[in-house]
Order: sequence, then C-alpha cells, then structure tokens
Amino acid sequence: MKIAIGTDHGAIDYKSEMIKHLTDKGFDVDDCGTNSTESCDYPDFAKIVAEKVASGDADFGILMCGTGIGMSLAANKVKGIRAAVVPNVDYAKLSKQHNNANIICLSGRFMSLDDCKACVDAYMNEEFAGDRHERRVNKIMEIENEYFK
Ligand code: RB5
Repeated sequence: MKIAIGTDHGAIDYKSEMIKHLTDKGFDVDDCGTNSTESCDYPDFAKIVAEKVASGDADFGILMCGTGIGMSLAANKVKGIRAAVVPNVDYAKLSKQHNNANIICLSGRFMSLDDCKACVDAYMNEEFAGDRHERRVNKIMEIENEYFK
C-alpha cells in the first residue's frame, strides 16, 4: 500500500515522525513535501498529494497543516478526491466507514503527534460500510461530475 503525505510549515514538525510510524508498519510512503520550516502555501502540497491519490499512484493521502482545513479545501478541488478533516479517532473511523474518504487532513497546531498517528491508524483499520453510505457517496461524486468537467 502506498501512502502520499504532504504538509505545510504548520505541521512540518510531524511529517518525519509520521513517515517513520508508517514505514515501520511496512507501508510505502511518498513524501510530497514541504521539506522546510519556511512559510509556504498549503494548496501546493494538497495538489501534489491529491493528484497522486486521484491517479491511483497512491492508495490514500495524508495532509497536515495548521488546522487541516486549508488542505482539505484545496484537495477537494481535485476530481475524485474526498478529503476529510479529522480532529479525532471517531471522525477518522467514520470518514472511512461512511464517507470513504481517500485523504485525511490533520492539524499540526491543535492535535498532538500521537493524536495524528492514532487517527491515521484508526482510518486505515476501517472499511467503507457501503450500502446506504455508498448511495450517498455516489451522490457526492455526481455533484462533482456536474460541476467539475
Ligand atoms: C498557515 O498559517 C495556516 O493557514 C495553514 O497551515 C492552515 O491552517 C490552513 O488551513
């Protein structure tokens, strides 16, 4: 399984530890930057990760910024992406079970590194529940097809 990960300066301190956490579990992690503590623009990294997920080059993505919000807004502009802001483990589980999120967005400012790791683990251990949730996710994608040609 390949995981694409990106952050801005707001969560750069967590990136290498998160990559180690995942590679220790045997996952192939694609580090999409940023690679410095300099102030940068989160959409640049959201786009790289989202395009990798949308193209199938990565199985899912992790995006981290100050809140996770900017990353999710930017990633959701890429066709095929369902990026969810995940502030805790319950949200992480439900983002997969109910929404079949293919990117989770975490906060480097309001979550601890351990919270972020726990959310990633919880997300990865869940399955999409399908059934009525599939109908709803399909409706999300229909909206996308209508407005994003
Ligand atoms: C950067 O200052 C900050 O705006 C960014 O990390 C993120 O929180 C945006 O949503």
